[in-house]
Amino acid sequence: MCNRCFDNIGGRILADQPTIFVLNGPNLNLLGTREPEIYGIDTLDDIAGRLDDHARAAGACIDFRQSNHEGHLIDWLHEAQAVGAKAVLLNAAGFTHTSVAILDAIKAITVPVFEVHLSDPHKRESFRHLSYVGMAAKAVFAGHGAKSYELALDVALQL
Ligand code: DQA
Repeated sequence: MCNRCFDNIGGRILADQPTIFVLNGPNLNLLGTREPEIYGIDTLDDIAGRLDDHARAAGACIDFRQSNHEGHLIDWLHEAQAVGAKAVLLNAAGFTHTSVAILDAIKAITVPVFEVHLSDPHKRESFRHLSYVGMAAKAVFAGHGAKSYELALDVALQL
């Protein structure tokens, strides 16, 4: 887990700043080498670094995480609510198309969730056209590569 809500000096949490959770699902830890012709060559750390700079410049803070396990994503959605996060950017990756449990978790919280994808699932195989996340997400940002995250962050920062 990479938590960007700590300062570089004392590890102190920057509690007074709005926090945006950025949650990434399975196989996204392999970005950079995973099917680069589809997902690009940026690593997840590259993306996290750019989002962090962007958020800090806007006086906000990013809590950036990745897991290959569905339950972690669900726990983190609950946690976003518990800590009063301003928004969640969620790239649930393959779980987007399968997980009723993630849909239920999004519906169970009041924190706005934005669906994010590097690729555009609607331009790919038909099994990617169904999005459980999209049934409850506030908006979808897809098909812009790593920029999809930055576009979603811009909107989340304006909430
Ligand atoms: C993805 C699209 C999903 O269909 C796929 O399963 C992923 C990545 C994207 O960011 O483009 O793992 O969420």
